[in-house]
Parts: sequence; structure tokens; C-alpha cells
Amino acid sequence: MNNQHEQNRACWNSWADWWRKKADQRGIWQKCHRNPELVLSPGEMRFLSDVRGKDVCVLGSGDNEVVFALAGMGAMVVSVDISEKQLEIAEERAGILGLDVSFLRADVIDLSSIPDGRFDVVYTGGHISVWISDVARYYAEAVRVLRPGGLFVVNDYHPIRQMWHEGDGPTPRHRYFNRGPYEYPTDKGLTQVEFHWTTADHIQAVVDAGCTLVKVDEHGEYEEEEEYATFVPSTLPMYLMIVGRKEASNKTDAADA
Ligand SMILES: C[S@@+](CC[C@H](N)C(=O)[O-])C[C@H]1O[C@@H](n2cnc3c(N)ncnc32)[C@H](O)[C@@H]1O
Repeated sequence: MNNQHEQNRACWNSWADWWRKKADQRGIWQKCHRNPELVLSPGEMRFLSDVRGKDVCVLGSGDNEVVFALAGMGAMVVSVDISEKQLEIAEERAGILGLDVSFLRADVIDLSSIPDGRFDVVYTGGHISVWISDVARYYAEAVRVLRPGGLFVVNDYHPIRQMWHEGDGPTPRHRYFNRGPYEYPTDKGLTQVEFHWTTADHIQAVVDAGCTLVKVDEHGEYEEEEEYATFVPSTLPMYLMIVGRKEASNKTDAADA
């Protein structure tokens, strides 16, 4: 068990109700299973439009809007998150939408309950890596559970945005190359632990996990949410997208041969 991740799990359990209300106000979770383009960008859709009948895993599923979108597109989705409270809310919503989704509480750096090669597509993104103490292990696990030839799609907040912290002015608070850990107290007396992986860290981790790069993109200049737009310059990219295809014969197979 990873102590820093357990601290973040406690934080996410304590925030889950607040996020539930925010998502209810936004009203996207009720629609995205019919209109997946509400939560998946054109760049992501290019790789995800043919998921019908496929086994898909979403890691760090959070509000599960991407999960509902993919399930609505006909994928058989397993939604993985470390927070049981986040998963409870998502399961209740999936029931309301009539979607058949499987939920798994697990840490993304230890997916040992999932066998190798189980999925056709693994998706992760929307501010996950910042909570993860080891991006190489995270992506190695993601690619382990992918079948050879399967697609690994990452669409996370762009690393450059992590140089600012909520409430900062135009001058960034953090050095780009300082990966942390950064500890912040929460208003519930807990501690959240953040990690700032660079763009190169992400790309190298996908390659080292055994993928051939299919696409690397930086996008979303004007899509920032209201509360962040005040302190992160809107001219910076919002997302880093990386798409890798798992090599047919991965490094482990080669080493075993
Ligand atoms: C910013 S949120 C949600 C991101 C999600 N893509 C979305 O857009 O709703 C981050 C999520 O990551 C989950 N998380 C944090 N650390 C995790 C870990 N080590 N393993 C699995 N999930 C984790 C949290 O519980 C939370 O639900």
C-alpha cells in the first residue's frame, strides 16, 4: 500500500460530495452517454470512435463522464478509481442512466486484480497523474493490462499548468522540473500529495511501458474551467494527449525469450 496514495484517497473520499454537486450543476454526466463529444475531444474521438463491443478500462475515473460516454458508444467498460466514495456515486449514476459498467476500487500503480492483456483500450486523463507518485509504474500497469496491439490513450492536464497553484498570480509558483512531492493541507485536516511529471516523463513512460507512439498532441487553449482561468494563462495548452499502441511482442516477452 502506498502511503501518499492513501492520503490522496482520504482526500478524494472527503471531496466526493462536493464534486457530486458540481457535476450535477454542470449536467454533463446525464447527457454524455448519448453525446460523447461533450466529454471527448475530436482528437480523442479519432482513436475512440470504434469502441463498440470492445473491452475498455478507464483509470482514475473520477466523475466517470468519459466512462459513461464510452459505455454509451457500446464499449464494455471497467471504471477504476482509488476512492470508494467516487465509485459509489458513479455506480449510482450508471444505474440511473441504465449503463452496464463494472467498477473496481484500485490504485493505478497496482492493478494486480486485473490479468495481463485484458483490454482492447486503456484510457486515462483529466488530472490523474498529479496524484500519482510514480508515473512510470502507472503507465506500465496500464499497458500490462492492455492486449498486444491495443491502444493506450492518455489525455491529462498539460504539465505546464501545474507550475501554478490555485490562487496564484501570473508568476508561476513551481519550477517546471521539480516533480515534488508537494503537500497541501485540506480544509478537512487531511493532506493532499501532488506530483508534477514533465511532458518528457509522460512520453518516456508510455514508450518504456512497451508502446509505439501513435500520436502526441497539446490542445485545448481556450477550454479552461472558470476557477482555473484566473491564474493559469489561457494561452497555454490545457491538455497533453499521448496515444500509444502496445507492441505485439513487449519487452517482457523479449526478455523471457
Ligand atoms: C481530478 S479527478 C478525476 C479525473 C477524471 N478523469 C474526471 O475527469 O473526472 C481524479 C480522480 O483520480 C482518482 N485517483 C487519485 N489517485 C488515484 C490512484 N492512485 N489510483 C486510482 N485513482 C486515483 C481520485 O479518486 C479521483 O477520482
